[in-house]
Amino acid sequence: MKNDITKIRMDFPILSEKIYGKPLVYFDNAATTQKPRIVIDTINEYYSKYNANIHRGVHFLSNFTTTATENARETIRKFINAGSHDEIIFTRGTTEAINLVAFSFGEAFISEGDEIIVSEMEHHSNIVPWQMLCERKKAVLKVIPFDDNGNLETEKLNNLISDRTKLISVTQVSNALGTINPVEDIIKTAHLKNIPVLIDGAQAAQHIKVDVQKLNCDFYVFSGHKIYGPTGIGVLYGKKELLNQMPPYQGGGEMISKVTFAKTTFNELPFKFEAGTPNYIDTIALAKAIEYIENTGLDKIEKYESELLEYATTKIKTLDWIKITGEAKHKSSVLSFVMDGIHPSDAGVLLDQMGIAIRTGTHCAEPVMQHFGITGTARASFAFYNTFEEVDKLIEGLKRVKQMFG
Ligand code: ALA
Repeated sequence: MKNDITKIRMDFPILSEKIYGKPLVYFDNAATTQKPRIVIDTINEYYSKYNANIHRGVHFLSNFTTTATENARETIRKFINAGSHDEIIFTRGTTEAINLVAFSFGEAFISEGDEIIVSEMEHHSNIVPWQMLCERKKAVLKVIPFDDNGNLETEKLNNLISDRTKLISVTQVSNALGTINPVEDIIKTAHLKNIPVLIDGAQAAQHIKVDVQKLNCDFYVFSGHKIYGPTGIGVLYGKKELLNQMPPYQGGGEMISKVTFAKTTFNELPFKFEAGTPNYIDTIALAKAIEYIENTGLDKIEKYESELLEYATTKIKTLDWIKITGEAKHKSSVLSFVMDGIHPSDAGVLLDQMGIAIRTGTHCAEPVMQHFGITGTARASFAFYNTFEEVDKLIEGLKRVKQMFG
């Protein structure tokens, strides 16, 4: 892949942009990824030539765009190897997908005193919806801790599980630490007690091949914009037998079978969970992003990104005033760090002046920061269009930051 990088980078128009007259070095991929031209062109093409509301018209444009949207659902089904296209629900993103499950699974299955387990390294979007559910139902939220290297202490899971545990929801890859969690083991442990598991794939599906049937997870969620697709579109995979038992999350058009003032009946899957006009053009563009990464090869992407991470980790370790936050055994594409005497946001602002975009702060994972007793980290997060030379620029940039702060 190293040899193809120049060509790959040309597929992403923004990577040729300059920031303050300097070539953009974009290391904020965990926040959002940049878009290949095919995604940008698809959005333009559909609004220019094919726009019409889907599943509602008898006319050519509506039928054309409906077919493209349902083909996109099939592309996404194949991408994660779901058993049926009924199991692919389009949402606004990971956050909405988790909120959908927290509400709808909660309505169907959670009562007072029941327990839900998350991990200490979750993004707020995999904590707060469960807290809201627990508040609503008087249920209890339990937490799997991680160790100081950022490894999840999965050996503690068995002690956390009780006969009141109704669901486990964990991230596959931590956005703040980069840890790749052993989700297969968690799922196996949970299933021994018939507990369903939701996997938050927001930081995983763009880096690691996902096979929901092999994982045997009950729900899997990810965001379009983190996988080189548009913002405002995401995916909830759920096992049919569970989704069928869950009530709709939102009411509105298309999610119904029949409406009278006396009683409304609901549509079949997946439409039961897709109230209102869907974000069909971004859905179609998301499928293009997925085709793009499949053509590039996720295995190649995974290998190249782990070489990049290893290189960056080795280089940053030569700076003895920097400490990496999160050195788990298995990591993906995230390098979080703190600096002696330098606030992460000061470093972020100075690096920005050099054209280098990183993220600083809590990364919407405040409990991770609380674990380490810090207020935030600086985070460089990588994508397959990043280069080893860009990592060198980051290291040089950090050295200049250090000089400026004396
Ligand atoms: N969750 C995104 C991040 O980690 C926004 O930056």
